[in-house]
Amino acid sequence: MSNADLIQQIEQLKKERNVIILAHSYQRPEIQDLADFVGDSLALARKAQETECDVIVFCGVHFMAETACILNPSRKVLLPDMDAACSLEQSCPAEELAAYLEANKEKNYYVVAYVNCSIGVKALADVIVTSGNSQRIIETAPTDRPILFVPDQNLGAWTAHRVGREMTLWNGACHVHQRFTRDQVLSMKEQYPDAEVVCHPECQEVIRLLADHICSTEKMIPYCSESAAQRFIIVTESGILHRLRKLVPGKEFIGVAADKCSCAECEYMKLNTLEKIRNCLRDMSPEVRVPEELRLRAEKPLLRMLELSK
Ligand code: 13P
Ligand code: SF4
Repeated sequence: MSNADLIQQIEQLKKERNVIILAHSYQRPEIQDLADFVGDSLALARKAQETECDVIVFCGVHFMAETACILNPSRKVLLPDMDAACSLEQSCPAEELAAYLEANKEKNYYVVAYVNCSIGVKALADVIVTSGNSQRIIETAPTDRPILFVPDQNLGAWTAHRVGREMTLWNGACHVHQRFTRDQVLSMKEQYPDAEVVCHPECQEVIRLLADHICSTEKMIPYCSESAAQRFIIVTESGILHRLRKLVPGKEFIGVAADKCSCAECEYMKLNTLEKIRNCLRDMSPEVRVPEELRLRAEKPLLRMLELSK
């Protein structure tokens, strides 16, 4: 079946079932174009919280759909492919975090969790952050307690440096952002000497040191739009290139490794397809559900984040 036919079926099912389609900026271009709203984790969490539609089709990865369930429990949340996981989430199992906190009880850690984590980890956290608000949230953290930042050591180290506050970092990382190398970025800079390098804070320090600007996917749009530069080397998952090219026309966006191989692709993000979206709307499945007791515990630090990042 052609994409045009699938899109027509999706539009029809959407009308019948009062659906909103939310998509992360790393989704395939055709999914971004079809979605009612495209954004980073923070914007998607806000949108999921406020929607009045009966059904949310979440085109992203599992923890994002789970966050939508936590924030808006009366809606049905569908994830087109239940295998859409996240290596950062996997790098911090809730049981390991609970055991670590138990073993270090005397430290009385203030636990800051990057939103890329499971509901179990969120339930153990004092506050959640995204890559778009980590600085602002950590600036408000109590100064009389040490901070434990989970699971992303790169976002944690970058934020600690920006805020000027020491933090204990969990040893987690995103496998996609870990794959970018200093040599790749240096050779792109040599090839395009007039280009600015913009990277996501999930990148390793060796990459961050080469960047002109470091920010969340969402903030890349105003930054590139307002910068005097005409060309940008983008160091993050390649899906953002479609959004940048669409929203910042007239400027050139070059993805590191994006055009030569799939190593700048998050295979989990790319599991969602138009066909799977049509199927999940037709079958009202797979649905993401969360236990209420855990939901209530995970909701607190998420609401604290949304309040602090207003
Ligand atoms: P954003 O917070 O920028 O949306 O990034 C989420 C993510 O998964 C990055 O790899
Ligand atoms: Fe997770 Fe990395 Fe994929 Fe983002 S790019 S969803 S952090 S695995």
